[in-house]
Amino acid sequence: ALVHKRTFVVADTPYNKLCSSKSILTVNGQFPGPTIYATEGDTIVIEVINRATENITIHWHGVKQPRYPWSDGPEYVTQCPIQPGTRFNQKIVLSDEIGTLWWHAHSDWSRATVHGALIVYPRKKNDYPFPVPDAEVPIILGEWWKSDIREVLSEFLQSGGDPNISDAFLINGHPGDLYACSKRDTFKLTVDYGKRYLLRMVNAVMNNIMFVRIANHNITVVGSDGAYTKPFTSDYIAISPGQTIDFLLEANQKPSHYYMAARVYAAAGTYDNTTTTAIVEYSGNYTRPSSPLLPPLPAINDTFSSANFTGRLRSLADKNHPIDVPLKAKTILFFTLSINLRPCANNSCEGPFGERLLASVNNITFQLPRIAILQAYYNRIRGVYGDDFPKDPPVAYNYTAAVIPRDLWTPENGTEVRVLEYNTTVELVFQGTNTVAGIDHPMHLHGHSFYVVGWGFGNFDKDKDPLNYNLVDPPLQNTIAVPRNGWTAIRFRADNPGVWLMHCHFERHISWGMGMVFITRNGKGRDARIRPPPPDYPRC
Ligand code: C2O
Ligand code: CU
Repeated sequence: ALVHKRTFVVADTPYNKLCSSKSILTVNGQFPGPTIYATEGDTIVIEVINRATENITIHWHGVKQPRYPWSDGPEYVTQCPIQPGTRFNQKIVLSDEIGTLWWHAHSDWSRATVHGALIVYPRKKNDYPFPVPDAEVPIILGEWWKSDIREVLSEFLQSGGDPNISDAFLINGHPGDLYACSKRDTFKLTVDYGKRYLLRMVNAVMNNIMFVRIANHNITVVGSDGAYTKPFTSDYIAISPGQTIDFLLEANQKPSHYYMAARVYAAAGTYDNTTTTAIVEYSGNYTRPSSPLLPPLPAINDTFSSANFTGRLRSLADKNHPIDVPLKAKTILFFTLSINLRPCANNSCEGPFGERLLASVNNITFQLPRIAILQAYYNRIRGVYGDDFPKDPPVAYNYTAAVIPRDLWTPENGTEVRVLEYNTTVELVFQGTNTVAGIDHPMHLHGHSFYVVGWGFGNFDKDKDPLNYNLVDPPLQNTIAVPRNGWTAIRFRADNPGVWLMHCHFERHISWGMGMVFITRNGKGRDARIRPPPPDYPRC
C-alpha cells in the first residue's frame, strides 16, 4: 500500500458563471476540486492550508478511517475548524473501500464549491467484476447560486424558511446550454463508437436528489458508495446528495451528439427545477444534427422512480466479494426523521404559519457544541455533549398520517450521542414522518458503510417487515435515501471506535438539526482502540 501526499490550498477565488461573478472558496484554485486517485488500502496525506478568510474542514465522504476519527472532518464533531492562516495534515486511511468516493468541506455551506472525487482502484489494475472500460470519467453534479454562498446561508438561517433557490445545477462545474448565458459553458464527453466508458458519478448537489439520463442510451450500474453492485441496466439514474453511482456507458448508438441531462427529484419544499446538461459526442466525421436530443426525465415529484432505482441496488455477494451483513442485531434503534416548526416572535419567520423550520431525529434538533465532541470524549472534558440519545422516539404515533398533532413532534434542542459498545451489531430503522411535510431524507453515516436490508412506504411494522429483510445481497452504502413517508432499515457492525456523525445530506436539513452522533467505545486490545491524535490536530 502506498502513501500519497497532496496539498490542498483553500482560498477565495474570483469566479464567473451565468454572466455573473463572485468569489468562491476553492481548493488549489479549481472548481470542482482536484480528483484524488488511490488504490485499495492506501493512505493519503493531505496538507490542508487555509488561505481563506473563514474556517474550513475537509471530510472524506465514505472513507471509514479505521480507529482514526481525527481526520474525518465534520466541524465541532471530530475537530475544530482549520482557522484562516493555519494548516492541518490530514491522514486519510483507506481500508476496503473501492470505486468512487469523494471529499468535501464540512463547515457551514462551503461544500457548495469545496468538493472533488476520490477514486479508489482495485489492487490489481483493471481487476473489475464487470467488462473492463476503455476509459473512466468522473462526473460531479453540483449546484450554483449567483450570490455568495455565505449570504445564501445567512439569509436562510435568518429567515427561518427554505433557502433561496439556486440558479443552476452543474455537471463537472458546467451548467450546460439550456440556461440563460451559458451557451459555451458545457461539459463535453467525447466517445468513440464501439467503446465502453465507466462514468463515476458523485452527487455534490446541496439540497436535492437528482434524476439523470443520457438520451438514447441505457446505462449499466456497477457500483455505488465505494462498493461494487450487481450490474443492472436502466435508462435513468436517481442519485442522492452524498451518494456515488458508477455505471458503464456503451457508445453503441448512431454517431451523433446526445444530451446527458439532470434535474431534481423533489416531493416537497421549494427548489430549482431547471435542467443541467452535458454533451456526449461521438468522434469522427459525420453530420451532426443541429441540436442534440434531450432525454425525457422522470417527473420532478416521481417518488416511485426515485425509490425504485435505489431499491434495485444489490451487493455482488459472490465468492470473491462476500458480504458480511449481521444476521442478527444486538442493538435495535428506531429513529424518526422529522421536519418541525418552532414559533417566532410576531410570526416573523418565513416557514409555514410564520414559524421557523427545524428538523430532528427522534424529536431532538441537533446542536453543534463549542468544542469538538471527539476532543471532549478523548480528553474527558465534561459538559460538551450528553450520552442520552434515545433509541426510540419519545412516543409512538402514526408517523405517516395526513395530519399529525403537533404536541407529538415538538422538538427539543440537544447535543446527544448514542454510545455503542465495540463490535456490537446494530440495526437502525429510519422512519420518515409527515410532520410539516413528508420528504425523502438521504441519510449518511460517517465511519461506516452499512447494509440496506429493507425499505418500504408507510409506517415500519416491527413484527412483519423484518421477515422480508434482504440478508442475501443487500447493498453496502454510506448514504441512503429514506423514501418520503416511508422507512429504511440498515445494519452494521460498530467495529470502528470513534465519534461518528450521522445526518441527512440535504444541507438545509442538517442546518435545521437533522443529525446525531454515535460514539463507538474502544474494545479490548490495541487493535480495537482509537489511535492517538495527530500533533497538529485543530483544537478549539
Ligand atoms: Cu458527505 Cu457528513 O457528509
Ligand atoms: Cu433530510
